[in-house]
Amino acid sequence: MSVVSAPGKMILLGEHAVVFGKPAIAMGIDLRLTCTVRKGRQNTVNGQPLSERHHTYVAAAIRDHWPGGPLDITIDSEFPSGSGLGSSAALTVALLGAMSQMGGGIDEESVARAAFDVESTVQGRASPLDTSVSSHGQGIFVDSAPGKDLLWHIRRDSRQWYVHHCPVPDLTFVVGFTGIRAPTGPLVAKVKRYVDRTRFAKEVVDEIGDITVEGAKRLRDRDVVALGGLMTRDHNLLAILGVSSPELQRLVDAAIPFSYGAKLTGAGGGGSMIALTDRPEKVAGAIARRGGVPYIVRTGVDGVRVEDILH
Ligand code: PMV
Repeated sequence: MSVVSAPGKMILLGEHAVVFGKPAIAMGIDLRLTCTVRKGRQNTVNGQPLSERHHTYVAAAIRDHWPGGPLDITIDSEFPSGSGLGSSAALTVALLGAMSQMGGGIDEESVARAAFDVESTVQGRASPLDTSVSSHGQGIFVDSAPGKDLLWHIRRDSRQWYVHHCPVPDLTFVVGFTGIRAPTGPLVAKVKRYVDRTRFAKEVVDEIGDITVEGAKRLRDRDVVALGGLMTRDHNLLAILGVSSPELQRLVDAAIPFSYGAKLTGAGGGGSMIALTDRPEKVAGAIARRGGVPYIVRTGVDGVRVEDILH
C-alpha cells in the first residue's frame, strides 16, 4: 500500500499573459489531496469500479503510466474540485506519486512530466503550471526562457515552458470561491482574440509580464505591501482583458479593505479570487457575506509527499 499527497495551488501573478510567453508565478497551498493505493482484484476508485467516463484522470494515468495489475484507489481531498485550486492536477500528481512509490520511489520531475502528459491527454490543451507546482510545492516561476533555479523544461507541440523554483515565504492568503465553474478554454480564446485584434490588449499583456517579474522580486524580499499592490494592479489589468466577472469583482472589492491586495486567480470568469492579508478572519467574513466560500490558506508547502508505506 502507498499513501501519497499533493497540494492544491493558486496562481499569484501572470495568468493569461503566460499563454503569450510571459512569466507566471504559482504557489502550492496547504490544502492537500491524498491518494491511498493498494493492489486490488479490479481497478476501483473510492470503492466503485473505475469508470473511463467519470474517473478520466485516474483512467488515463493507469492506462498510460501503470504497467502493473489492478489498483484499489481511495481519494481524500481537503478542497473541492472545480474551484480553480488545481484539484485535477493534485489528484493526478498524488496518484502518479503513489504508483512511483510502489515501483521503488518518487522523483518529483518524473511525476511532474507524467502528470502534465495525463492532463494534456484528458483536457486536450493544458499548461504545465498546475501539475508542476503540485509536484514541486513551494512556488514556481514559469517563463519562456531558462534562468536561475531551473527545475525542468517541458515541450509539447510547438509550445515550451521553463519551470523554475521560486522561493516562497510562509504567507497567509484567503481564497474566495465564487461557486461558479468557468472552463478555462473559452476565456483563453477570448483573450487571444482581443490580443490579436488590438495593440492595446497586447500592451496590457506586456504590463502583466512586467508586474510578474517585479512580483517575483517582492516575494523573495517578503515585501507584502508591494506584492499586494502588484496583485491588485494585475487584477485590474485582467479585468480590462475581460476575464473578471461581477461575482469575482464583488469578492475582490470585499477583501481589499482588509488586505495588502487581491485579485482573481486562474482563468477567471468565475472560479476563485485570492487576497494577501494579515487579517484572514476579517477577509474570510467579508467574502462569506458577499456569497463567496472562503478558505484561509498558507503557502510555502511541500510538493508531492509520501504519507505512509505499508507492505
Ligand atoms: O484555471 P487555471 O487555474 O488552470 O489557470 C489557467 C491559467 C491560464 O493562464 C488562464 C491558462 C494557462 O494554460 O496557463
